[in-house]
Amino acid sequence: MNKTDPAVEARRPKGSFFRTKKFLIAIAVVVVIVIALAVGLGVGLTRNREGGDDGKSKYPPLSGPPDIPPYNVSNLWQPAVGTPWQIILKKPIVPVSNGSDITPYETVYDLDMADHSADTFAKLRAAGISIICYFSAGSWENWRSDKDQFPAADLGKVLNGWPNEKWLNVSSPAVRDIMKARIKAAASKGCTAIDPDNVDGYDNDNGLGLTGEEAADYVKFLATEAASYNMSTGLKNAGALIPRVINFVQFSVNEQCIQFAECKNFKPFIDANKPVFNIEYPPSAPNVPANVAADICSHQGKAAYTEGFSTVIKTLDLMGWVQYCDGKTFNTSTVTTFTNSRGASS
Ligand SMILES: *[C@@H]1O[C@H](CO)[C@@H](O)[C@H](O)[C@H]1NC(C)=O
Ligand SMILES: *[C@@H]1O[C@H](CO)[C@@H](O)[C@H](O)[C@H]1NC(C)=O
Ligand SMILES: *[C@@H]1O[C@H](CO)[C@@H](O)[C@H](O)[C@H]1NC(C)=O
Ligand SMILES: *[C@@H]1O[C@H](CO)[C@@H](O)[C@H](O)[C@H]1NC(C)=O
Ligand SMILES: *[C@@H]1O[C@H](CO)[C@@H](O)[C@H](O)[C@H]1NC(C)=O
Repeated sequence: MNKTDPAVEARRPKGSFFRTKKFLIAIAVVVVIVIALAVGLGVGLTRNREGGDDGKSKYPPLSGPPDIPPYNVSNLWQPAVGTPWQIILKKPIVPVSNGSDITPYETVYDLDMADHSADTFAKLRAAGISIICYFSAGSWENWRSDKDQFPAADLGKVLNGWPNEKWLNVSSPAVRDIMKARIKAAASKGCTAIDPDNVDGYDNDNGLGLTGEEAADYVKFLATEAASYNMSTGLKNAGALIPRVINFVQFSVNEQCIQFAECKNFKPFIDANKPVFNIEYPPSAPNVPANVAADICSHQGKAAYTEGFSTVIKTLDLMGWVQYCDGKTFNTSTVTTFTNSRGASS
């Protein structure tokens, strides 16, 4: 995932809404919240994964027919359209006694692969919960335990808004070997599927000349590796790749397509009977006014083409709080003290 950059917001095309007082107030609220988070947490916005994509895609969809996987995808976990889900990346969830005591219960969980133990995953799996394991496949993160294995030549520019991460050369055999090892680790931890993030470097100032074609090849590589362990794969954002990779992936994980009015790009997943796990980050979260939630859940206006989407409303820090379109909210328990693999605790 990338980041919400108020400067990017400010560069958006000036429709009527963007000239209103409401818009200026919204910008001011975002700025205040960002500053409050940065100051209040005392850690900046960089230590752990947080939500926010870079903005509307600038890259045109790849052309050509969808590629056909060289293996039988019908054996893989294929969640149904509309499957409810929860995503928590900031901290590990509290280890559960038997899995079924987690709230919300009957959902899919998207969790950081490295931050959880196989034991926690085993308890969730025993309770019938499917686990999507998050890792960054397209960025180098300076706190991961395997960070020193990446050749310096494979690191590109720093991610906009994420000073502890750099874009990766996704064509590099060395990078791919490291990702193979991560996927193997995901399998041995009991992940049902993988959520490889930051495969949209081609749509960002990456310093490596990354192209959409390279990214599509990379997604197919990741999905093929995962499938060799009977794990499914999601396409994270990267709408331009859909025409080429949709047969390789079993779901979409999307950030802010409603905010950016680009959900139409992800509708091909619904048409292929594959869910779109969509996250929206209204600045008011976790106190979302009813009209804001109603707009997000309306399937109209900016939310056009979202019929069947599995939408969650989250705060940018991707903690345990979540709101669904049926109005229900939950606050999944996370550990209070967390020492991540970089050694910093919060
Ligand atoms: C793929 O697997 C499914 C389920 O096991 C099976 O029914 C189908 O015949 C397989 N297809 C091919 C082409 O092997
Ligand atoms: C592969 O995963 C699917 C879905 O989780 C499961 O039904 C199937 O039993 C698994 N196959 C093997 C060989 O483990
Ligand atoms: C699992 O834990 C919950 C909450 O502690 C409890 O209500 C339930 O009975 C437990 N289920 C089993 C199978 O132990
Ligand atoms: C990325 O890796 C590929 C494969 O090793 C190589 O051909 C290409 O030159 C690399 N790109 C950059 C910008 O270093
Ligand atoms: C969620 O619960 C945690 C404690 O587990 C609490 O610190 C946090 O404020 C709660 N979040 C919301 C939005 O209620």
